[in-house]
Amino acid sequence: MYTLGEFIIENRDYFSYSTESLLRLFSSIKLASKAIHKEVNKAGLTTEIIGSSGVINIQGENQKKLDDFAHRAFLESFKNRNVVCGIASEEAKDFIVINNKDKKENFLQNQYIVLIDPLDGSSNIDVNVSIGTIFSVYIKKSPIQMDVTIEDFLQQGNKQILAGYIIYGSSTILVYSTGNGVHGFTLDPSVGTFYLSHYNIHFPVKEKIYSINEGNYAKFSNGIRKFIRYCQEKKDNRPYTARYIGSLVGDFHRNIIQGGIYIYPKTASYPEGKLRLLYECNPIAFLTEQAGGKASDGKNSILDIEPKELHQRTPFICGPIGMVSQLEKFMNNFG
Ligand code: AHG
Ligand code: MN
Ligand code: MN
Repeated sequence: MYTLGEFIIENRDYFSYSTESLLRLFSSIKLASKAIHKEVNKAGLTTEIIGSSGVINIQGENQKKLDDFAHRAFLESFKNRNVVCGIASEEAKDFIVINNKDKKENFLQNQYIVLIDPLDGSSNIDVNVSIGTIFSVYIKKSPIQMDVTIEDFLQQGNKQILAGYIIYGSSTILVYSTGNGVHGFTLDPSVGTFYLSHYNIHFPVKEKIYSINEGNYAKFSNGIRKFIRYCQEKKDNRPYTARYIGSLVGDFHRNIIQGGIYIYPKTASYPEGKLRLLYECNPIAFLTEQAGGKASDGKNSILDIEPKELHQRTPFICGPIGMVSQLEKFMNNFG
């Protein structure tokens, strides 16, 4: 059984950048995710993790203690590995510069830009439902001797060199892609190691599930409403099953394995959509395409969107190509 580290080494020919730097990057991701796994697993036993931190974050949302813990865990872990030069987090207003210029021997390796949703599905923390972390990695654009600038973070999703998520569910699973398929690794907590458990994940041929917060029905456009009716119609391979837990990572992980579409459209409350392009949509869109699916804002490919600001939101649809194209048709015809 391959460990994550062994798998990366085994597949080094399919990664265009330094294998050592990728291993170091993953060593940060593994460390922080294990710390979060540990906290999540004792959430019922301690009040240190349950509940609000008392802060309204940059998203205008009530930050949970675990949002803050996860943000700090990843930040500390990335700072100490000499491969990351800048981080943008859903929980921080501005991007964070990591300046390791004095460490000459590692200087050339500090080329990774990381964007992260440290804790996805915050509303599920206190009720023991799956939550996750989403990460997205780019190569720094600005000259190597310079500190990172905002341009380094505002890159199109199709420039990602690595994207992935960790789901803290009935087990903790890390899923990632470097553009060579999507692979999943399950944490064996007794030894603290991630082992390959899901090789080359692909959306199955059978379309089965639709995932949308249907409580917002009255706030949806006509095209979205018509599509929901279409999913419920008894015809061909329909009706589809409705599944929605309110954690993008959890909903997506189920849909990529069982075959389903995830939709967070514009609503009256979120006229630009709710999900964040850089921390949530781009990395999940990258994985979607790598797994043979399609990710769209209703019209355009998510990965082609030119980001304008760090915390930009977008309508988001991802899933098997047939289902996403069908929804796009409804949106095109009915708005
Ligand atoms: P986060 O916890 O990082 O703020 O993300 C929550 C997101 C996403 O994970 C989820 O799919 C969606 O918000 C749920 O929103 P609704 O409760 O409006 O359905
Ligand atoms: Mn999120
Ligand atoms: Mn979050």
